[in-house]
Amino acid sequence: DSVPILPGAPSEVWRYRVELLKGPESTLSENPDSYLGPTIRLRRGQTVKIHIHNELPEDTTVHWHGLHVPSDVDGQPRLPIRPGETMTVGFEVLDRAGLFWYHSHAHGEQGGRVGFQSYAGLAGLLIVEDDEELGLKLPIGENELLLVLQDRTFTGTNELVYLDGGMGAMMDRMRGFLGDQILVNGAPPATRKVATRPYRVRVLNGSNARIYKLAWSDGRPVTIIGADGGLFENPEDKPYATLAPAQRLDIWVDLSDSRLGSTLELISGSYEAGMMGGMGMMGNSGLPAGSQFNLMALKVTESVDTAETLPVQLALERKRIPITDATRIRQFELSHVMMQGFAINGRRFDRTNVADDERVRLGDTEIWEFRNRTPMPHPMHVHGLQFNVIGRDANGNRRGWSGLTQGLVDSGWHDTVLVMPGETVQFAMKFERFDGLYIYHCHNMEHEDTGMMRYFQVQ
Ligand code: C2O
Ligand code: CU
Ligand code: CU
Repeated sequence: DSVPILPGAPSEVWRYRVELLKGPESTLSENPDSYLGPTIRLRRGQTVKIHIHNELPEDTTVHWHGLHVPSDVDGQPRLPIRPGETMTVGFEVLDRAGLFWYHSHAHGEQGGRVGFQSYAGLAGLLIVEDDEELGLKLPIGENELLLVLQDRTFTGTNELVYLDGGMGAMMDRMRGFLGDQILVNGAPPATRKVATRPYRVRVLNGSNARIYKLAWSDGRPVTIIGADGGLFENPEDKPYATLAPAQRLDIWVDLSDSRLGSTLELISGSYEAGMMGGMGMMGNSGLPAGSQFNLMALKVTESVDTAETLPVQLALERKRIPITDATRIRQFELSHVMMQGFAINGRRFDRTNVADDERVRLGDTEIWEFRNRTPMPHPMHVHGLQFNVIGRDANGNRRGWSGLTQGLVDSGWHDTVLVMPGETVQFAMKFERFDGLYIYHCHNMEHEDTGMMRYFQVQ
């Protein structure tokens, strides 16, 4: 029993409740101490059927972020589930193994509710497993750490605060909401007891707008084994890893040589966030973009002997899209429209219309090119497909965000790519199997909610 909540009002928590009616290959793990929805594990090739019952006081949808599903089960705003209604969706799990997630995608006539609803609790992890990945015998169970990074602001009585009115809220919308408390899986960063062995750390940035700069406290490189769309072909070391909203990273960390009693921390390092990022005085957050903080401490308390090592060859399947197959380059300019907000090719979200240059042919391979003409980074996301990043050009000017660029992860498969200020980023996609309406948008949820989102039509 909920009461209507307006943006800006302290809120109660909204939760997904999930029940699984499936064979032993699918599992559900509750997150009882958190507002997050349960972690759903599915096996590739399975057909899933989901009843979604909306007990909220407003419209909602459930979007399966990153999954290759038909347009009518994609949870798009044009197919809202009204309060009290139940919608049943079904799809076959076609994607290769990877870490995905599900979250609200409601956007009514009054504007977007994705930022608010996800913030209030409507988000959860969805893991796809397949034979290829299981064959690699990567760390599982307690040796696989799943981390959902989010930031929230609380009142003195522990109620969630979203946008809190006035000038501050205006700034928060433009920059994206930044909470002043970091939460990992819905709880403050904590210490985990670990053993002298390798761990697989799978991280989702489930924040509305915050960009993380993941690094280890002892300065060791971050070994990345996969991204949004599953495992890389080979592991890759970075000094730190940049993780924008909605992106996922698969990280390998080996504590085999660690001393008993020692602690390794996963941190988010500091970076210069430019004019739009900080806005310290004008925005409401006590923890501005680019602040440094801890995310997790791994305390080595047990000594074990294991022969597990990082496979040199990870994914065998699904190589890159051949760029020579591309039939066209489609260009998108990210800009700011005075008095309105951020726009894509000068256009803002339209609940009913697709422009002529937003129609693609089923079966085609295309290169999409995003040019960022704004002083803010935008994590651009395309529904229903995984793509390969094929080009990134800084044009010399990142206006203060350069402290993130060495950590940008462009290998492998992605559904969300961070386009830095002044940058042009290109990626290749193949529009396979499903026609119909899909969405592309900035995954800074306040940008998305205020209109930096468009439909495109596959036909
Ligand atoms: Cu996370 Cu439109 O999606
Ligand atoms: Cu999505
Ligand atoms: Cu944006």
